[in-house]
Amino acid sequence: MSTDRTYCGTPRAADAGARATAFGWVDRRRDHGGLIFIDLRDHTGILQVVIDPNDAPEAHRAAREARLEWVLRFEGMLNMRAPENVNPKRDTGEVELRASECTVLAVAKTPPFPVNEDADVDEQLRLRHRYLDLRRVRLQRNLRARAKFSTELRRAMSEIGFLEIETPMMIRATPEGARDYLVPSRLFPGSFYALPQSPQLYKQLSMVAGFDRYFQLAHCMRDEDLRADRQPEFTQLDIEMSFVDEDDIFAALEHAIPSAWEACEFRGGRLTVPFPRMTWRQAMDAYGVDKPDTRFEMLLSDLTAVARTSGFRVFAEAVAGGGIVKGICVKGGDDLSRSDIEGPLTEVARGAKARGLAYLWKRADGWHGAIAKFFAPEELDAIGTATGAETGDCVLMVADRPGVVNAALGAVRNHLGRARALYDDTRIDMLWVTEFPMFERSEETGDIGAAHHPFTMIHADDLDLLESDPLAVRSRAYDLVVNGREIGSGSIRITDPAIQQRVLAALGIDAEEARRKFGFLLEAFEYGVPPHGGWAGGIDRMVMEGLGTDNIRDVIAFPKNQQGQEPMTDAPAPVDPAQLRELGIGILPTTPKP
Ligand code: AMO
Repeated sequence: MSTDRTYCGTPRAADAGARATAFGWVDRRRDHGGLIFIDLRDHTGILQVVIDPNDAPEAHRAAREARLEWVLRFEGMLNMRAPENVNPKRDTGEVELRASECTVLAVAKTPPFPVNEDADVDEQLRLRHRYLDLRRVRLQRNLRARAKFSTELRRAMSEIGFLEIETPMMIRATPEGARDYLVPSRLFPGSFYALPQSPQLYKQLSMVAGFDRYFQLAHCMRDEDLRADRQPEFTQLDIEMSFVDEDDIFAALEHAIPSAWEACEFRGGRLTVPFPRMTWRQAMDAYGVDKPDTRFEMLLSDLTAVARTSGFRVFAEAVAGGGIVKGICVKGGDDLSRSDIEGPLTEVARGAKARGLAYLWKRADGWHGAIAKFFAPEELDAIGTATGAETGDCVLMVADRPGVVNAALGAVRNHLGRARALYDDTRIDMLWVTEFPMFERSEETGDIGAAHHPFTMIHADDLDLLESDPLAVRSRAYDLVVNGREIGSGSIRITDPAIQQRVLAALGIDAEEARRKFGFLLEAFEYGVPPHGGWAGGIDRMVMEGLGTDNIRDVIAFPKNQQGQEPMTDAPAPVDPAQLRELGIGILPTTPKP
């Protein structure tokens, strides 16, 4: 049907005089009594079609019936428009198709929201009719950009010797730390597959198998609470390499990501390589968070020494109790009012569990603010020197446990960076954060867990601390951070069984449990395991950054909503009781979800 199809967005002045057949949807239709004008749309753009009742009475009759979003086929001659009718805003604006034939291929109901403009439409409605939402220009552009990014990543990875290996979707649970989606087995009632949270163990097994450089655009599933940059299903660029250290892994990614990024012309196109590196400790000290936004300064300064001896009891007591005090200097922060600080900024700090936000302004005549009187002049000077505060600036401070101080000031810093437009929006800062702690203590249970995963190698200098002070142990895990967002994580892996055993012991996993959960991996390692490491990054998040959107659903064709549902097909949905019986599953009575 479409052997000599002319795409709507392609005709130019040079094509005038040629015959053309175009297919598409009705974007707009104007009936001037005599002439009918139809803007015909396909994914490449819009072509104006003119139907003259004198030239083509039958086509005119058909076109008169046509409504928005009907699917039409036009045949005719491409003509130059009269100079006064040229539309300079459209690529095809110099020409039009003078129709000799019009065929209605499909009629369409009135769409529930306008497809032909970028109107703000309730997202639930858009997801319910996702095919119409995707037909719109913005999502067409996003999804095409995503496809190009994936293609270019594949090309770039293959170029440097990586082999794409598909790993199974129905597996034994992997230890990524989120909740699994389970698939019941019919043949083994009571047994379940898990959907992969990542292909972690399979890619390590591929190293044992000698594949050396593995990659995959891997679909992953995690049953976790959703956020603007989280979906229950997402895609990773997943890699693993043998006989390497951090430098080799970073170099591979510093090849693949920038070349795909540039091919897609994401936000200015170029990424500077190598990406800068910062240790986790440096990030926490200076930015308060493990994913620092390095597009602006306002670094955290340690004020514990001044606070310890100051007459400000809140600070002195916090330090006496083992806490710390840190501050940030807001340049030009004299314009922050008391209510700005005590209102929204304190809210941000409280959101990170701080009890409050202390503040001082530095003005030409000295330091101001309710707490200024508790500090000796030399203490105020010391605060000024430590934070770099000058006349016209404001210093914001938090006293508490180190974790709370860093998190609160880190959040206030990010908030101020956005609110005070402290960075250029087109700028992209990629950053490696290295030497993450190996373990972390769960706030809920108090138990020690792996910060990345239990197969992450320990920093060589910290092996001795494994039993005596596990929380001080650094690992060889690293994250890639872009503009303050984590887009990927990885590590060099443990391949020494003795170290693996000590790490599992620190996690409270005994030999029996280890054998049950991932004995197959430990066994494989007994057959000649090469030293290896890898990384995985969210394709969805990279494309979000590339396109400059904060909503992950803008870059996924058929995403779930914030409740994890898919409003178009109405998944998840109850299943036929017979299917459950076959699987040996009964449903417990529970309170129905709203
Ligand atoms: P990790 O669990 O840190 O590492 O995940 C890597 C990256 O995957 C993306 N990501 C998500 N994107 C969208 N929605 C989600 N729910 C979601 N969860 C994760 C993020 C994240 O940085 N196997 C290890 C990697 C390794 O060690 O090689 C892993 O999966 O961008």
